[in-house]
Amino acid sequence: MQKLIQWIDERLPIVDAYNNHLGKYYAPKNFNLWYFFGSLAMLVLVNQLVTGIWLTMSYNPSAEGAFASVEYIMRDVQWGWLLRYMHSTGASAFFIVVYLHMFRGLMYGSYQKPRELIWLFGMLIYLVLMAEAFMGYLLPWGQMSYWGAQVIVNLFGAIPVIGDDLSLWIRGDYLISGITLNRFFALHVIALPIVLLGLVVLHILALHEVGSNNPDGIDIKKNKDENGIPKDGIPFHPYYTVHDLIGVAVFLFVFCVVIFFFPEMGGLFIEKPNFEPANSLKTPEHIAPVWYFTPFYAMLRAVTVDLFGLPAKFWGVVVMGAAIAILFVLPWLDRSPVRSMRYKGVLSKIALTVFVISFVILGYLGIVPSSPGRTLLAQVLTTLYFLYFILMPFYTRMEKTKPVPERVTG
Ligand code: HEM
Repeated sequence: MQKLIQWIDERLPIVDAYNNHLGKYYAPKNFNLWYFFGSLAMLVLVNQLVTGIWLTMSYNPSAEGAFASVEYIMRDVQWGWLLRYMHSTGASAFFIVVYLHMFRGLMYGSYQKPRELIWLFGMLIYLVLMAEAFMGYLLPWGQMSYWGAQVIVNLFGAIPVIGDDLSLWIRGDYLISGITLNRFFALHVIALPIVLLGLVVLHILALHEVGSNNPDGIDIKKNKDENGIPKDGIPFHPYYTVHDLIGVAVFLFVFCVVIFFFPEMGGLFIEKPNFEPANSLKTPEHIAPVWYFTPFYAMLRAVTVDLFGLPAKFWGVVVMGAAIAILFVLPWLDRSPVRSMRYKGVLSKIALTVFVISFVILGYLGIVPSSPGRTLLAQVLTTLYFLYFILMPFYTRMEKTKPVPERVTG
């Protein structure tokens, strides 16, 4: 074995790679439960890839056969129901895990210098993940798949001058059709997963170059022992590989409970109209995207005024795009001398709390049908969402921060 490793290592530096990323990668010893979600995101990614490959073996990507092939997977393919529920529940689990992972970043200032690139790769992952989920959702070819895609692709039509041609180009037809289904299938099973995997590798490489942040936001590389090893660091393997297994066990327990007892989650994970085959002549009474898109959908619907000769729909798309784009520049908006919320001032704490509450309520408003009262609420919450970012350069500089200790605090 030793000789084989040596033989390979002379040709490909596997020992170095192992040491750099596991055996001698020193991670802060004070990780808490918020640090489970990175490894869980990787677990869910693998789950999606594996179950996706097996679903593809029995799925038929055509307007005539798609819906029936999903029913066939559910009823006739051995363990097909499990594969499908693991994949559909996995999609929602992915977003739950990624949202919690992002929240950890906001809480501990993990996006701040020198981790800007980790954040940027993370944001690209988030964008690609949204595209991946959107395209995957068309594949079962149910009513909500069809009309959801119709609504979202039509949004591109709101862009002046090129809009109509652009949405036609995306659909490949004058309405969502088998042609659209076919190209979404290709993108969903091949193109986007490759991009996603590549981005995750870059995300981890960028992380391992500068080292992990921690709940105290302290730079552990500033305190090294005589061998150059951070005093507050522990080798990733075996300490965190074993530690992360606790997160994996708890996650899998909850994941199984959902798969076996609540796979549709009352219409949140698989929406009710999607049990009916797509019908281009029958619009569902109420069209809403899956829960992980609804905060942005609520922002889109919150814009109701035509401005500068352009329709409200266009401005809604702009607001929705800006809500995601502004997250990209977060590392340059935070001017605080400290990273972690533990040592930031009261203004940052209030701002983050208001931001999270606004995002969650917007998510709810995007699920339910709109009414004048709800639209007004969505307008207020959308404003609060943006104020979190726009005011950040000011409140992070103005507020009084607490002194950061020399060493991590357990
Ligand atoms: C497929 C999705 C993703 C995977 C597999 C993934 C994986 C990971 C892993 C394994 C870590 C190290 C462990 C940890 O700190 O939890 C990490 C750290 C990090 N991730 Fe992600 N990530 C994903 C998406 C995102 C997104 C969407 C963002 C934000 C936009 C993000 C931002 C970060 C940041 C800032 C860190 C450094 C955290 C720190 O050191 O405190 N990640 N990621």
